[in-house]
Amino acid sequence: MSSSSHPPLLLFFFTVFFLSAVADHHDKTRSRLKPPHFSPLFSSSRNATSPTRYFEVKKPPVPSSPQTQQQPCSHQFLHHDFAYTYTKPPVLANYTLPSHCPSQQFSRITLELRSTCRGRQFDRIFGLWLDGAELLRSCTAEPTRNGIVWSVEKDVTKYHSLLVKNRTQTLALYLGNIVDTTYTGVYHVDVFFHYYPPSSGDYDYNSPPRADMIVPISRSLPLNDGLWFEISSSGDSKSKEIKIPRNVYRAVLEVYVSFHENDEFWYGNLPNDFITANNLSTAGGNGPFREVVVTLDGEVAGAVWPFPVVFTGGINPLLWRPVTAIGSFDLPSYDIEMTPFLGSLLDGEGHEFGFSVTNALNVWFVDANLHLWLDGEKEVVEGEVLEVSRSSLEIGSVLDFKGLNGEFETEAKRLVCSKGLVKSSHGEIVTTSRQEFRYVNKMVLGKDGSLQIIDQLIEGEDRVQSKRGSRRIYAAKSVKSFPFYLYSDSLEQEDNTSLEVANVTMGFNEERTESDKVMMRTFKSKVENKQEGQGVMVVKNNLVVNGYGGTQQVYKYVGSDQCYFRNISSFNYDILYDKVEAVCEENTLKMPEHLARLETLTSLLL
Ligand SMILES: *[C@@H]1O[C@H](CO)[C@@H](O)[C@H](O)[C@H]1NC(C)=O
Ligand SMILES: *[C@@H]1O[C@H](CO)[C@@H](O)[C@H](O)[C@H]1NC(C)=O
Ligand SMILES: *[C@@H]1O[C@H](CO)[C@@H](O)[C@H](O)[C@H]1NC(C)=O
Ligand SMILES: *[C@@H]1O[C@H](CO)[C@@H](O)[C@H](O)[C@H]1NC(C)=O
Ligand SMILES: *[C@@H]1O[C@H](CO)[C@@H](O)[C@H](O)[C@H]1NC(C)=O
Ligand SMILES: *[C@@H]1O[C@H](CO)[C@@H](O)[C@H](O)[C@H]1NC(C)=O
Ligand SMILES: *[C@@H]1O[C@H](CO)[C@@H](O)[C@H](O)[C@H]1NC(C)=O
Repeated sequence: MSSSSHPPLLLFFFTVFFLSAVADHHDKTRSRLKPPHFSPLFSSSRNATSPTRYFEVKKPPVPSSPQTQQQPCSHQFLHHDFAYTYTKPPVLANYTLPSHCPSQQFSRITLELRSTCRGRQFDRIFGLWLDGAELLRSCTAEPTRNGIVWSVEKDVTKYHSLLVKNRTQTLALYLGNIVDTTYTGVYHVDVFFHYYPPSSGDYDYNSPPRADMIVPISRSLPLNDGLWFEISSSGDSKSKEIKIPRNVYRAVLEVYVSFHENDEFWYGNLPNDFITANNLSTAGGNGPFREVVVTLDGEVAGAVWPFPVVFTGGINPLLWRPVTAIGSFDLPSYDIEMTPFLGSLLDGEGHEFGFSVTNALNVWFVDANLHLWLDGEKEVVEGEVLEVSRSSLEIGSVLDFKGLNGEFETEAKRLVCSKGLVKSSHGEIVTTSRQEFRYVNKMVLGKDGSLQIIDQLIEGEDRVQSKRGSRRIYAAKSVKSFPFYLYSDSLEQEDNTSLEVANVTMGFNEERTESDKVMMRTFKSKVENKQEGQGVMVVKNNLVVNGYGGTQQVYKYVGSDQCYFRNISSFNYDILYDKVEAVCEENTLKMPEHLARLETLTSLLL
């Protein structure tokens, strides 16, 4: 914050929004996309007497069909009031499968986290781990004077093998909050699990696949922090040695990621050449491309090109009240097929799983769960890694700028392919996995840095197929696309006041198909989730004194398990319209005759 020769751009980076009184490392380098606090004088258009309920729009974790009307068996495992918890140990609780459930067989298990808060507080990242395996990565909602309440419900059936273990495990919740005279909000959090008994019919059949064993790849307790690894720069990498049982026949790595501080808005970061030419601080540099790279024994095994989650305090907080941004309450995790690498993992020795982030600035929180399927008949499964090809990451960028105005285009692509043989009691199976990514980011800076337009598209395609001889016995495909557009402008007014305009459009789209002849299971789903927001904040002397935000969202899920549609709009805490449909139309993917369709589906896959 040394020079004042470029006031608009310094504002752009951090001058106006720099809050020197804040000790939290999350706040040291607020960019314009991380707005300052709301003035105590700012009152929203609504003077609620009861707390406002915030929520993220998505399908319910358990569809409400007549078949699934059974009441779950529920149990609360944790309660804590998170006041000054930053750099303190995570809150721990003992987890034992409740013995009062009438059935010890479950069709689904869901996690519910409820929270309330009142006062002033930033959005805080948090994570929940069971014996080191992450179950949820989430962000708190920013409270108001009158208080807020929200809950996150997540289907955690894929962690079944952990959740039903017949022994006591440690549940750990880390939420680094800071409470002082300015930031008064204490988060009151309750954690429940709901255990759904088996039901008849299709529904169980379509319940998510469950690994036999889950090996956490995270930091071990005790810690004064979350269990995630912290990746603080481009050259930083974190790893852990893992040993797996010798009878594994399938392995999938599930990766959790979130980005903070200088990289919270990585997709809007500027190229270093531009920063250097303009003598700017490096905060918000390294350009807008990021890639999470997973290595096995030092070699690239897969990648994650993450969805740009906007946390509840991001860009313009009024956009996310009460409908929060896509993924903010339940951050997506990303699967990487590891079966082709079993040939190397099955030797009974330890192997090193590593994580790094291309172009990273401080800080990324990354960890993973290794989901393993075990052979019930063979004690030792053998394998061989047949082929691994990794196109190196290709990044190209075009810079065209004069002073603080310019246009930047960044493109990237990556291909990771692996092929491996596994000899289990299911036979000699050759699995190939292929991850393909494309990225383009077009950025415009105008008005000497006051105006920024970001237009980004991330596309990813993952394909896995397993063959026994010439017969395909497993095939899966996931096609993702994450469009993200942001228009933001800062209009200087009289009296130390500026108008911060931000219009944002983002989408999370994914189409998945999976056909498994060993487990006799087929699954197909398509989600299209689009959010558009328009907001203005009036910022005076580093405080938001007025403003508005309006958000429209259309969420559409059609899957073998359920259908869900929601079309909703909010404006400054008020819902303008909200249309929900939870029935599948004719000819959608409800598949009572799934087995009959197996062949058809498989042939569609490749
Ligand atoms: C909300 O309440 C505050 C304090 O009582 C008052 O100053 C303000 O005018 C009220 N706002 C509205 C929109 O009613
Ligand atoms: C978990 O249970 C053990 C044994 O009963 C007890 O000593 C410990 O304090 C418990 N831990 C927590 C976090 O409640
Ligand atoms: C759980 O473990 C206890 C003690 O080891 C044993 O008595 C009990 O039968 C086990 N329950 C199940 C369902 O395996
Ligand atoms: C950046 O700093 C250098 C050396 O101090 C100076 O020569 C140059 O004019 C500065 N550039 C800008 C755009 O201020
Ligand atoms: C504008 O900011 C300056 C510096 O912080 C301060 O001295 C001045 O009083 C402010 N003016 C108004 C109208 O708030
Ligand atoms: C931003 O949204 C507002 C409100 O919908 C609209 O009037 C304005 O034209 C939008 N600006 C841009 C650049 O999209
Ligand atoms: C959502 O609802 C709005 C308002 O009724 C309507 O204009 C829009 O077309 C709807 N969108 C979809 C995809 O149904």
